[in-house]
Amino acid sequence: MNLQIRKKYLFLGFSLIVLAFAAFSFPLDRFSGTSVEYTAVKENLRTDHHRGIAYFAFGDFSSLTSDTLRVSASPWKLVTAALALSAVDGDLDLVGEVDLKAIFRRFGFHSPESFGNWPEDLEAPEIQYPVGQNVGFAGRMFPPIGATIGNIGCAACHSSVMYDANGMPNLNHVWLGMPNGSINLEAYTSTLFGAMRDWSGDPDLLMAAVDRLYPETGWRENFTLRNFILPELKKTVDQRDAEIGRLLPFRASLAGATNGLDSLKNRLGLIPKGTVLEHSIFNSVPDLGGRLWRYKLLNTGTYAIPGIDHTATVKAEDINPRHRRGLAGIIAYFTVPSMGVTPEVAETSIEPAFWITDWMKDYKPQPFPGLIDPSLLAEGGEIYRNKCAECHGTYNDSLETPALTSFPNWEGNVGTDPQRARLLTSEISSAVNASLFGKYISARSVDTYAAPPLIGLWASAPYFHNGSVPTLWHMMNPETRPTRFNVGGHRLDLEKVGIAGDPQPDGSWTTPDGYTPWSEPALVDTTAFGLDSKGHEKEFSGLSDDAKRALLEYLKLL
Ligand code: HEC
Ligand code: HEC
Repeated sequence: MNLQIRKKYLFLGFSLIVLAFAAFSFPLDRFSGTSVEYTAVKENLRTDHHRGIAYFAFGDFSSLTSDTLRVSASPWKLVTAALALSAVDGDLDLVGEVDLKAIFRRFGFHSPESFGNWPEDLEAPEIQYPVGQNVGFAGRMFPPIGATIGNIGCAACHSSVMYDANGMPNLNHVWLGMPNGSINLEAYTSTLFGAMRDWSGDPDLLMAAVDRLYPETGWRENFTLRNFILPELKKTVDQRDAEIGRLLPFRASLAGATNGLDSLKNRLGLIPKGTVLEHSIFNSVPDLGGRLWRYKLLNTGTYAIPGIDHTATVKAEDINPRHRRGLAGIIAYFTVPSMGVTPEVAETSIEPAFWITDWMKDYKPQPFPGLIDPSLLAEGGEIYRNKCAECHGTYNDSLETPALTSFPNWEGNVGTDPQRARLLTSEISSAVNASLFGKYISARSVDTYAAPPLIGLWASAPYFHNGSVPTLWHMMNPETRPTRFNVGGHRLDLEKVGIAGDPQPDGSWTTPDGYTPWSEPALVDTTAFGLDSKGHEKEFSGLSDDAKRALLEYLKLL
């Protein structure tokens, strides 16, 4: 063999060793999986409408990967085993009996039997995991590693228990697209952090708990969890514990109101290392009805479709595929803060987001389940047309199921708490515009709020962008707005329309005696930063009590 060839072989051999070494020294890289619940329904999907609702319910948006494991995805079996161990104080013999669904329910995740608005012409899905926890196995053959990964999905926040004629929640039936007034990601992430801190130092116990809960786990996953994922997880947990004493450098939510803004800041690298943000704003999750009638999304209207006049009025004929593609480009970006994917990965989700807009086109919330006084509807509709439509949109004349006919995309200042708008600084909007999504989103920092469509209003409490008012009746009677109230696991008051409560002399609105919330509530203290319940008052001034009553009846129909 001449020297030249020997050198070549030597080089090849060396390269192979480097490659093998690279594969083993970074074994947590480059693997991904697909949501098992989506895979199970996938082959039945015939139309974009079907694909849209299925992806909305179960789609993983390419977020079950080794990369997102380092951001916001979870090694599902380890995490649930740790939560289960905490629930039984580390008693391994009891772990097998732990009701994981009940644990997730505490944080506002639903585990229903069925979806109330699943299409009739599509086979009903089997709901295996808490709704909005998308779970799938991700692995690769060389080296042979793999793990079950979970990540959050749209329906964690955008689905609601259905309500009966008394405003009581029905946990077995869930409506996709209505806001989850109970989702409490702060309770979830802090409980998770505590559990990981408590049990990740005892690999034998934790892996034994995995075995009790998931006896079918194969050697490949066992090996990966014990040797790669658990050590890395422990390192992360210890590091965060030492640095900030918690998992996230910001508060993740109240209940029914989440913190996408700080989550985005975190993803953009705008939170200084080792600090926890002092002031956070939580955004009340909206109903998805009528949202395609917008040229810009978010309560500040910050994300506009590029290249159009986003203050123009939208009519039914404007909601064409081109417009929906524009909105899909914005919606796909939501996966960056909520699921921890990169903008490059989020771009590949524009197509699934487009399917979702196909479903949203026909979406309707659960019809109001309580009593409506039909004799007041005509007057209520008239008041709406005269006092509300110019900002919130015009509906047709139906007094049974009014439908939007035009939406003005109004934005301005109605005196509500200004902090949320202020916190979305030009630093953040510039970073979005400078990213790859700059071609899909024209981000603006503004000091105003956009008037939202009012579809699904009856089940959207608490009200305003910051969720600071518990019922529509309080909203219409500003002097009665409470200082404090609980959100999460609540039942509804279908007369005042909103969260049921009892008024107290100190100005708070407390959970009715005898009612036990089904999830962990959070306190809305309207004296706290960003939670002021003022504003939108003069819009109701000049209305008599009777007029307000009639308007309230009409709003129940939307
Ligand atoms: C962690 C909870 C959470 C998750 C997960 C989530 N959303 Fe949202 N979504 C919200 C909140 C809160 C808002 C209101 C934010 C605001 O106005 O600033 C919102 C706003 C929206 C809006 C805009 C409404 C409007 O008119 O401005 C759409 C559309 C939407 N979400 C769809 C989705 C889709 C589709 C997914 C899945 C890819 C998703 N969301 C995932 C909480 C969530
Ligand atoms: C001048 C424009 C304007 C008019 C007129 C107006 N609103 Fe609003 N409305 C807004 C804006 C802007 C917001 C968002 C405020 C916020 O969240 O901070 C809003 C928010 C709301 C909300 C809260 C929605 C939610 O999901 O939290 C309700 C309910 C509402 N308006 C009802 C009405 C009714 C009923 C009328 C007629 C009596 C009316 N509005 C008139 C601009 C207006």
